[in-house]
Amino acid sequence: MFLEELEDLKNRYLGRLQLINVLSREPQDVELFTGRLDPERVARILAVFAPVDTVDEWYLCGPYGMVTGAEALLAEAGVDARHVHHEIFHVAEQEAPRAPVVVDASAPAAALVTVNLDGRTTRIEMPTKDESILDATLRVRPDAPYSCTGGVCGTCRARLVSGEVRMDRNYALEPEEVAAGVVLACQSHPVTDEVALDYDA
Ligand code: FES
Repeated sequence: MFLEELEDLKNRYLGRLQLINVLSREPQDVELFTGRLDPERVARILAVFAPVDTVDEWYLCGPYGMVTGAEALLAEAGVDARHVHHEIFHVAEQEAPRAPVVVDASAPAAALVTVNLDGRTTRIEMPTKDESILDATLRVRPDAPYSCTGGVCGTCRARLVSGEVRMDRNYALEPEEVAAGVVLACQSHPVTDEVALDYDA
């Protein structure tokens, strides 16, 4: 996507920036640069171009399988997880399936969720705790932010102000953010009967 921009940067900072293109389907002169970036290929590339003890920070971006494979490889090599950052842009359903939830909107409330968004507070009655808080919120606050609904992009992040939720999956938040009470609304389900989220915090 940014092929030309990256080439420009490489040419401008010769000696400081090294760029390697690994193409999964297009054959290249060097065998190492052709094929999937699985842990075995990543290990071989690192051994030649970036031994793990020469790297300060790792930034991994790609589909779920590639990123988690590289993370496992780095963990095995003794890299501290605090120096490994990731952005996952696609999660195949077979890697993390989720059952659909049928909601009877006329059923009595199983949980009460209070949402603060853009300075306006809304109380939402959830008929079932199996539904995600985002889905329940969208019925009355269609302005609630979201994008992937898969726990990947982080667009639906909000701060848990009170109550308790459980998240199905989280590929977007760092452990420190989770510890600080940030949750993904698209993955969150109420555990307590009352929950309050603040999107503005
Ligand atoms: S909408 Fe993408 S993580 Fe929730």
